[in-house]
Amino acid sequence: MDTALLINLAYIVSAILFVLGLKRLGSPATARSGNLMSATGMLIAVVVTLMEQAKLPWEYIITGMVLGGLIGASAARLVQMTSMPEMVALFNGFGGAASLLVGWTALYPAPGASGLLATVQGISTFTAITIVLSILIGGVTLTGSLIAYGKLSEKMSSAAIQFTGQQVVNAAIVLGILASAVMLVQNPGFDSPWFYAVLGLSLLFGIMVVIPIGGADMPVVIALLNSYSGLAACAAGFVLNNNLLIVSGSLVGASGIILTNIMCKAMNRSLSNVLFSGFGAAKKSTTKVEGEPKPITAEDAYYILEAAQRVCIVPGYGMAVAQAQHVVKELMDNLEANGCEVSFAIHPVAGRMPGHMNVLLAEANVPYDQLIEMDDINPQMSNMDVAIVIGANDVVNPAANEDEGSPLYGMPVINVNEARTVFVLKRSMKAGYAGVDNPLFVGENTRMLFGDAKESISTVVGEFSD
Ligand code: TAP
Repeated sequence: MDTALLINLAYIVSAILFVLGLKRLGSPATARSGNLMSATGMLIAVVVTLMEQAKLPWEYIITGMVLGGLIGASAARLVQMTSMPEMVALFNGFGGAASLLVGWTALYPAPGASGLLATVQGISTFTAITIVLSILIGGVTLTGSLIAYGKLSEKMSSAAIQFTGQQVVNAAIVLGILASAVMLVQNPGFDSPWFYAVLGLSLLFGIMVVIPIGGADMPVVIALLNSYSGLAACAAGFVLNNNLLIVSGSLVGASGIILTNIMCKAMNRSLSNVLFSGFGAAKKSTTKVEGEPKPITAEDAYYILEAAQRVCIVPGYGMAVAQAQHVVKELMDNLEANGCEVSFAIHPVAGRMPGHMNVLLAEANVPYDQLIEMDDINPQMSNMDVAIVIGANDVVNPAANEDEGSPLYGMPVINVNEARTVFVLKRSMKAGYAGVDNPLFVGENTRMLFGDAKESISTVVGEFSD
């Protein structure tokens, strides 16, 4: 059979594995096999592409693959579960960097070509456009993701950064990018000043689009950058004339946009509102939290839980920090053995990455059918004897429903305050990621169980076994 046909057949197999893998990632029950399928598709794609287009000696390629594989595998194994969101942000950025480099490389003349030192002649306008797009979107994705990494890892303030004239500066950058992109398309070359203009301005634009977004709006940015990395890969696919890269880039781009839409819905915001309004910077919180918190001990919490018929557990970022998911499962087992009905309320932006709580609870073998989404659990909340909030804060802040002065106002939250009793497990009275005070903590029916969530729950579990 002819080689080109074989290669295309292998690409089709890879593309099918990507699509099936994505489909299986839609449910925690099938996600693991979905991941494996997509990874197999990628391995086939890489090997086949290299067999077709290897431009370097094999020793270099194999060394690169082994080194890259080792770095990827050790990063995945060594990274703390709490650092996973920022690692994902960083990997998005690397995807953007790879596309940028592909575009950049394509601006060099083919080896051996003479008289073409400065310009790449003979490429079509279409290819030149895809090269510029690859550099442009790749550059924005790279620096945007680095800022997102800084904000998520709290290496920089997660608050929105805004200054007077920001929109004007951004508009000037966009105009600069458009003008230099047009010039570069007309005269493509690696040492063209227009190339450096496109490169510099797109790197700058990545920073400028992410700094004004902060607080509770970050989930939308993460999803959007994910989509950009796909679009950049898709453009790189056109540059390299590689169908599979076009397909996989489009899949990432499209799923990123779908996720962005889901995140916007979860925050009850439009995309333009998230991108241009500057969470927290435009609106200073006027929420006044008056009253004293009512602390409770783990022993007293146990007595209330022992008598409860229906309990709803609401996990948040603090459960990931405390690594409390396994003791939470033990608590669930003890409650159920005591005749109590237990459900988990999952907010779409709880934690620091999409699906964060689902992943943690799946790791602890909590059955998937007990994870109930916000819209389905809220109508049942008033029937709950106890809502146990484990390291969640913003996603249970009633000010989002009641206080127009709150930056969170309008964001749907889990209405734990409607349960008969609420236990909040956290270490202090500090605000959550959005930096907004939470009136839930001084609510009439709220009891604060201060301390590390894992230790507090272990003590309650210990009481069940005594
Ligand atoms: P947060 O509002 O961030 O609150 C987490 C709480 O956990 C903190 O108030 C903290 O209080 C507590 N905590 C930390 N370590 C703890 C420990 N060891 N034991 C017990 N409690 C601990 O979390 P959330 O309610 O899950 O909301 C998520 C926030 O992150 C939202 O604003 C969301 O928009 C944002 N965000 C989400 C994403 C995605 S995609 N999910 C991405 C970026 C940003 P103490 O310090 O007092 O213990």
